[in-house]
Amino acid sequence: MRKILVTSALPYANGPIHIGHLVEYIQTDIWVRAQRLRGNRCVYICADDTHGTAIMIRANKEGITPEKLIADVREQHLASFTGMDIQFDNYGSTNASESYETCCEIWSALRKAGLVHEKKVSQLFDTQVGTFLADRFVKGTCPKCGAEDQYGDSCDKCGATYSPADLKNPVSALSGTTPEMREAEHLMVEIERLRPFLTEWTQNGGHLQPEIANYLAGHFLGDELRDWDISRPAPYFGFEIPDSPGNYWYVWFDAPIGYIGSTRVWCKRENEDWERWWKDPETEIHHFIGKDITYFHTLFWPAMLKTAGFNLPEKVHIHGMLTTNGEKMSKSKGTFIKADTYLKYLDPAYLRYYFASKLTNRVDDVDLNFADIREKVNSDLVGKLVNLASRTAKFVKELGTSSVYPEDSGLFEFGASQAEEIAQAYEECDFAKVTRLVMAIGDRANKFVEDSAPWALRKDPARQQELQDVCSIALNLYRQMVIYLSPILPKLAAQSAALLNENAESWTINDVKVPLCGTKVNEFSHLMNRMDEKAIDAMIEETREENKPEESQNEEVKSQWEDSAQPLEDEPLEEVCTIDDFCKVDLRVARIIMAEEVPEARKLLHLTLSLGGDVTKNVFAGIKSAYKPEDLVGRLVVCVANLQPRQMKFGLSEGMVCAAGPGGKDIFLLSPDSGAQPGQRIH
Ligand code: 2FM
Ligand code: ZN
Repeated sequence: MRKILVTSALPYANGPIHIGHLVEYIQTDIWVRAQRLRGNRCVYICADDTHGTAIMIRANKEGITPEKLIADVREQHLASFTGMDIQFDNYGSTNASESYETCCEIWSALRKAGLVHEKKVSQLFDTQVGTFLADRFVKGTCPKCGAEDQYGDSCDKCGATYSPADLKNPVSALSGTTPEMREAEHLMVEIERLRPFLTEWTQNGGHLQPEIANYLAGHFLGDELRDWDISRPAPYFGFEIPDSPGNYWYVWFDAPIGYIGSTRVWCKRENEDWERWWKDPETEIHHFIGKDITYFHTLFWPAMLKTAGFNLPEKVHIHGMLTTNGEKMSKSKGTFIKADTYLKYLDPAYLRYYFASKLTNRVDDVDLNFADIREKVNSDLVGKLVNLASRTAKFVKELGTSSVYPEDSGLFEFGASQAEEIAQAYEECDFAKVTRLVMAIGDRANKFVEDSAPWALRKDPARQQELQDVCSIALNLYRQMVIYLSPILPKLAAQSAALLNENAESWTINDVKVPLCGTKVNEFSHLMNRMDEKAIDAMIEETREENKPEESQNEEVKSQWEDSAQPLEDEPLEEVCTIDDFCKVDLRVARIIMAEEVPEARKLLHLTLSLGGDVTKNVFAGIKSAYKPEDLVGRLVVCVANLQPRQMKFGLSEGMVCAAGPGGKDIFLLSPDSGAQPGQRIH
């Protein structure tokens, strides 16, 4: 019996699980269940990836703590996984104390090995939000081709990659302000020193698929490996580095360590020694990831594990990305489908079977085509599999299976003979082959049922033994298929075992070799529906609706407006003015540089406005009931700068500041967006 620890990549705790994620979790869950079916001890560990800037910012925006955000998201993630029949032994969080302890252990090993040094790093800083900006949080003009609105690391238009410092007119995606370049001390890990080890580990021993090993050799291992920037300055949601206060481990440092942290939580619960899972070579570690995070899992992660004396992965299984109908998943096309939306309309078995039928051990992208999934589900699952039981079980409800397995011209023998090949295909993640081999059993079985026509035998009282034999053969072939497919279709397996008076939990792959004879057959209850086109359309439509954030936000703003709007009748519009009329009014940006009360006047404040340079204006404004002088100094306002000066009791008023509202407490000064300069004309 092998002792196997399996992980899937930890999903970020800042968004829902969608079908793009599900390729991997379904793939891993199938592999784990297949290991158990073969009698191996296999533990499946996962967790939410909870740290980093994106999560901190989303929590800020929602006005909750990051801890509350990640707790809420964890519940949602777990519900989606459970709905898809994905069964973890533990679903943890990278923010757990068990993860922190392991981070400290691995960190001190890196320090001890002399791999950590400090370096000054320049990064764009958003002064309004008060945070350094990750590359994806900066947008600007591509320095190469001039395309606007490009991310800080690469250009969508020309494909150039660059540093955010090179971007022209950079703008923070968080606040819309212009970020400034700031320097901070970062901690770097000198991974180059592990290049000989990484070369050996990636190229030999079968830990990686050949195309991945070649990719690493061709793209990274031939040259010096760049230092890994492992720290981020505050503010950052993550773990503060114990020997470097004010600095936090970069999310990609503690993310894979979450695999160990989550294992430790499981071990506590199960009374297991976690070191026997992570430091004892008896245990095989298997990671399942998407090709987009190859670099972290095949270079940094083994380097960290090696330095700290942990088990290295036996295998990193890497899959391609999901496309839908041959294209990138798209929100507007309704193909960016959340797991929960899928589950509202469709049976998880459909997607599990479909992905299985597409997955091989190659790194190719996987396409979800909606016509294809329907065809596959209806022809294989309903047509070839479930029909076998639904056409025969009811005829032997009273009789049960024949007491001796009848002559079947080698059908059962053929099914049983596939066990080793199917087990091997599971081991190699070639689930497409599993489904092909099992459906070949189904083709023979269905032909047998067609030829034997149990529905005709049933009508002939003299042929009841024959009827029982035919149904026993069909049900035994059905059972073989279901046992083989049980890692892919766990619910169907449980229902089918109940029909045959068995328990799916205790099935092993060897059960396909011994037929059921003289056993009870229980009442047949409906097993699976055909996949309905209307349900698919409804799911796509709902996804489209969900992905209209801007419109719905507008709706929200609009409804707030309507609540507090002044009806226009209260103050009708002035008669039409021409553009020339309007241009006569010279509106300027101004800064209030002095504000004081006018003791003798009930409503007035005395303001001095700067219009840039030495130009100032004296204004008496009727805003005393709504503003305190000390709150006004320094702010920008809109000033009518060419208003005929007016001599008042308290002095000369040389202009006016623009404000809205009926008066009293409800006076609202107009101010330009930040960035405007005093003296600028308003058009
Ligand atoms: O790419 C991602 O979605 C990451 N959250 C995966 C982390 S995997 C592991 F390292 F934790
Ligand atoms: Zn470009």
